[in-house]
Amino acid sequence: MNGRGMVKGAYISALGVYLPERVVTNSEVAAMPGLETSDEWISTRTGIRERRVARAEQASSDLGIEAARACLADGSLDPGDLDLVISASLVPDMIFPATASLVAEGVGAKNAGAFDVQAGCVGYMYGLAGAIGFVSAGMAEHVLVVGTEAVSRALDWRDRSTCILFGDGAGATLVSASDNGTLFHFDLGNDGSGAPFLNLPAGGTRLPASHETVDQRLHFLKMDGRQVYKFATRKVVESCTNVLDKAGLTAADVDLFVPHQANLRIIDYAADRLGFDERQVFYNLDRYGNTSNASIPLCLHDAVQGGRLKKGDTVLLVGFGAGLTWGTCLTTWEL
Ligand code: ACO
Repeated sequence: MNGRGMVKGAYISALGVYLPERVVTNSEVAAMPGLETSDEWISTRTGIRERRVARAEQASSDLGIEAARACLADGSLDPGDLDLVISASLVPDMIFPATASLVAEGVGAKNAGAFDVQAGCVGYMYGLAGAIGFVSAGMAEHVLVVGTEAVSRALDWRDRSTCILFGDGAGATLVSASDNGTLFHFDLGNDGSGAPFLNLPAGGTRLPASHETVDQRLHFLKMDGRQVYKFATRKVVESCTNVLDKAGLTAADVDLFVPHQANLRIIDYAADRLGFDERQVFYNLDRYGNTSNASIPLCLHDAVQGGRLKKGDTVLLVGFGAGLTWGTCLTTWEL
């Protein structure tokens, strides 16, 4: 999917995040019985040093509600003024109802519609594009886009190739109407032939939950890391190049490159191929791991807090994930 560029009347007007208090270091993961991994392997192969893990009673919507509240406070917006809540989770609370319904209820968004986007780890980016579309078309004035993950629940803590990678967290973005035009170039894509490389096999209509599926641990996330790695390195470079070309910009025009925080090696490869120097690249996966749909809004929040992202900056966001999907957005930061 390709957009046309300058979008009238919509911009990102506020941000909010939530991170569970519990920090789990690589050494703690490595100490789990039978896992046979090490801090050294995890940090050198991925760049991750620690991640957050939600409390047992916290589901994805609970983290999302906290991030949404923080975002509404940041934008000084009454929840009753929200027109729409869009939520994205790799692992939602339940197959239905939508996590967005629970988040909207939790924050008191009584006048808002609510729906989820399922696009792997790229749901937040698809949701952001949708929110910009709703607002710029005049169908909504304020749309909350939430990326929220208690993904640790869906990890097989006996599978060292996946459980070391992910962490819990949530980020929310408010998209609001404005009288000005804002640069927004999106590239959203999908290659469904990659579905076998990253999925959660059981619990849906393909493989309904049964004693057998539980015994075979099919209700946990499965991933072919090498295939996802190959896809991600290729597609991130292609999609970002496509968006920069459409905008008539080069890497030198970008103030901050914010890639999905999956693996530092993927980020470094893409940044190098795209011609970014390290001062242009944002990462925080050392502290949070891969928080899936929360990854990009958590980066935006940390970048603003750390003074790395300022009003007027050109920012390039790119995500990839299960589907296999990808989503890139080039925009001017207005906060
Ligand atoms: N500790 C120690 N050894 C390990 C571990 C571990 N945690 N995990 C795998 N190994 C072993 C493997 O068994 C293998 O051993 P072998 O050579 O004896 O067979 C060896 O290490 C190398 O395995 P590789 O899979 O080749 O390791 P690689 O360098 O590719 O790193 C990784 C694996 C980190 C998963 C990498 O492939 C990757 O990051 N892929 C992309 C994953 C990703 O981005 N996923 C999310 C995207 S979408 C989303 O966010 C939901």
